[in-house]
Amino acid sequence: MAENAFRQQIPYGRSTMSKRVLTTESGAPVADNQNSATAGVGGPLLIQDQQLLEKLARFNRERIPERVVHARGSAAYGYFEVTDDVTRWTSAKFLNTVGKKTETFLRFSTVADSLGGADAVRDPRGFALKFYTEDGNYDLVGNNTPVFFIKDPIKFPDFIHSQKRDPFTGKQEPDNVWDFWAHAPEATHQVTWLMGDRGIPASYRHMNGYGSHTYQWTNEAGEAFFVKYHFKTNQGIRCLSSEQAAEVVGKDANSHQTDLLQAIERGVNPSWTLYVQVMPAAEAADYRFNPFDLTKVWPHSDYPLQRVGRLVLDRNPDNVFAEVEQSAFSPNNFVPGITASPDKMLQGRLFAYADAQRYRLGVNHTLLPVNAPKATTAQNYGRDGAMALRNGSRHDKNYEPNSYKGPAETGDALGAPLAVSGHTGTHAAPAHTKDDDFFQAGELYRLMSEEEKQRLVANIAGGLSQVSREDVIEKNLAHFHAADADYGKRVEEAVRALRED
Ligand code: HEM
Repeated sequence: MAENAFRQQIPYGRSTMSKRVLTTESGAPVADNQNSATAGVGGPLLIQDQQLLEKLARFNRERIPERVVHARGSAAYGYFEVTDDVTRWTSAKFLNTVGKKTETFLRFSTVADSLGGADAVRDPRGFALKFYTEDGNYDLVGNNTPVFFIKDPIKFPDFIHSQKRDPFTGKQEPDNVWDFWAHAPEATHQVTWLMGDRGIPASYRHMNGYGSHTYQWTNEAGEAFFVKYHFKTNQGIRCLSSEQAAEVVGKDANSHQTDLLQAIERGVNPSWTLYVQVMPAAEAADYRFNPFDLTKVWPHSDYPLQRVGRLVLDRNPDNVFAEVEQSAFSPNNFVPGITASPDKMLQGRLFAYADAQRYRLGVNHTLLPVNAPKATTAQNYGRDGAMALRNGSRHDKNYEPNSYKGPAETGDALGAPLAVSGHTGTHAAPAHTKDDDFFQAGELYRLMSEEEKQRLVANIAGGLSQVSREDVIEKNLAHFHAADADYGKRVEEAVRALRED
């Protein structure tokens, strides 16, 4: 790949044809960018040296808070093309015609580590997709795993604290990681997934993406359906063993970024096929487990995959900070025809993302080119705040309703209303009587080949055997025993063997 393919080609505000003069931020020519202005040859400095002051001050402000989770990421632009008719389930305009294409932006990420970490680590991967639709931006903020560790958002900050760096040691600590899981039996399914072969994808191109939550679709007739999204990679699934991953990290900590960037620069555009599982809304109440439980999958035998379309990535961002670091995805960005389900985790996320982005990027982050709608324009009465680039013209009123033909509400609901019942309060009991934290973990284990089981057991034992407290080990072992007798027995034997060494 030509090295200069990655160089910035067009300088701000100037054509490549004109002489490129270095200027201050206010556009004044800079006479000397190598020597500070001083009183005499040996100094001291002169405070009148605007280039020096501005350069140092500007540099001090280059970093912004990193994402509190999913800090490391890579992204690319592309498009989504509808291949199958799904209008019997949703009125979403971007899905209403076979062949219709919508521009997209997809950011992949690891979850736990900070910006300075490595790509090829055992961790779920984020799969955050922005559709720039004619009805505004639709964000589907998912992972490469169909399930998650917890099912109540009130546990999320504690969960993340236990997986990120310990405040004293400054490192991820097996004691914390496994202590949280010891107290979260509902994590057993996702832990089995994470410690298995798919726990370390070989690249972002070689993994699936999932919406993970259940969402609601509503069709033109107002009928509601619950759906789960599956983006299946067309590159095939490729994973790394723990040993292979350690080698990759040693050679290139940014291996996933390198792979994605280079593939797209070479024109090898990765793609995924989107399928959905569709449950008519009326079936949710009597389904044999809670269909809004994020720790569970819906068996395909109950709700088969239905093809929707194709996602292709074909363009790298020009600038990582402007477009990737400043990108903002929120599960609360829906378009008509698609809404939230009652999933408690999803409901918690509807608050968390835009709140994080108002802190991380500021209240006007939706005006940044990567975040602004592309196939329509945002028109509302939000005004002012830091960096208010869009504030209305002298003819625009800043209140609504008004008598001046300003933007007005449509009165159309985004989706069918959801019936609810019951008492307010904190409810520890599962919503469905047949809920159980272990059966799907056991099913996943039993689906694995003998070699896969051996690698899974070795990965779990490698981490769990490092835990200092025997009671934490016991609690975790109990979860694997509850999932499957053979699974529990093997993990227990492997942990004991490693601790005796
Ligand atoms: C209650 C549970 C959760 C909370 C409170 C939460 C909160 C957050 C926050 C605050 C961010 C940073 C946002 C930003 O600064 O732009 C984030 C990023 C992210 N989260 Fe979650 N999260 C939760 C669960 C999940 C789940 C279940 C998934 C996947 C199914 C997920 C996928 C992601 C992804 C992919 C990103 C990175 C988005 C990007 O690329 O910018 N999160 N989360």
